[in-house]
Amino acid sequence: AMTLSDAANHILLNSGLLQSRTLGEFVLQDSDQPLPAQNLFSSSDALPTIDLYCAGAAEQLAAACRDWGFFQIQNHGIPLELLNRLRAHSHSFFELPLEQKERAAACSANSFYGYGIAKGRTYSPNAWMEAFHMEWTPASQVRRHMERIGIPQPQFEGFCEAVEQYASQAEKLAVQLMELVALGLGLDATTFSRHFAGSSTSTVRMNYYPPCPQPSRTLGISPHSDFNIFTILLQDTVAGLQVLKDNDEWVTVKPNPNALVVNVGDTLHAWSNGRIKSVMHRALVNTTEPRLSVVYFFGPHPDTKIDPIPALVSSDCPLRYRSFVYKQFVEQILQNRGKKVFESPLNS
Ligand code: SIN
Ligand code: FE2
Repeated sequence: AMTLSDAANHILLNSGLLQSRTLGEFVLQDSDQPLPAQNLFSSSDALPTIDLYCAGAAEQLAAACRDWGFFQIQNHGIPLELLNRLRAHSHSFFELPLEQKERAAACSANSFYGYGIAKGRTYSPNAWMEAFHMEWTPASQVRRHMERIGIPQPQFEGFCEAVEQYASQAEKLAVQLMELVALGLGLDATTFSRHFAGSSTSTVRMNYYPPCPQPSRTLGISPHSDFNIFTILLQDTVAGLQVLKDNDEWVTVKPNPNALVVNVGDTLHAWSNGRIKSVMHRALVNTTEPRLSVVYFFGPHPDTKIDPIPALVSSDCPLRYRSFVYKQFVEQILQNRGKKVFESPLNS
């Protein structure tokens, strides 16, 4: 068996930036949470796959959001050529020489955005991952972030272009998904989307999970739910993402490079009065292959007031969440103050 110091050497040789920390920092405390069952290949086909343009797509989508909080979309309208190009550029980014990545991480040290280890640290302080997190709306900051972290622009022009093209298509897709899910819930198509006229808050995060010598002792991302409206995730061919089904079983999302994985965020969960749900998910790592995901997080304008939709409140489904302003909710999550604001008792 590999000892911890063997493992640390292995990391030193193989994981670029992760070498600057010891394995111990990535190992979850025993008291923290149970170690994951390292089963990347169970129930992989179970997650619903939806053809966005088939008859009945709205109903299928609402059912998947209700039963799983997650689904894959094929026939999503985003050119496969763009998905492949984005993946190729993302891989080149994470394969930059160590010195360049160290500099990029130093430039991002005090920011929620930028490049570094565990950039999703609100979720995963111990994560076995590197990430590059960029703001997309209200203003694309892809190029500004690249400048800020000292990555030469000409070399990465193709990268910036691919991110921008992808994010603008993903944004349109998110609006389309809000309209379909509204229809599937028996609401007017624009119930959610009319709050987004020309305004949303969205970010793009590239996650890279280098091979890990002891994958059963850590996680790529700890269990969490997303706080936004919809998240659209592009995988490559390496498995790792798992979804908690019925609060009970971790189901691996089978990689399908032509499909996009979508999940419901907490805000849409509360907005729908819990009719559709935001579920816990996590990422496992493996010993052999680096894993890439490119995540588009779509949320409302910061000042949007989220009130459970009255038509989704009934005697069968009483009001479950208090109203909140999106930015206050996000602030609270980022400060890690535990219970989510809309979950506090309705009568307090
Ligand atoms: C995430 O939950 O933000 C990313 C999960 C993944 O990389 O698959
Ligand atoms: Fe997530």
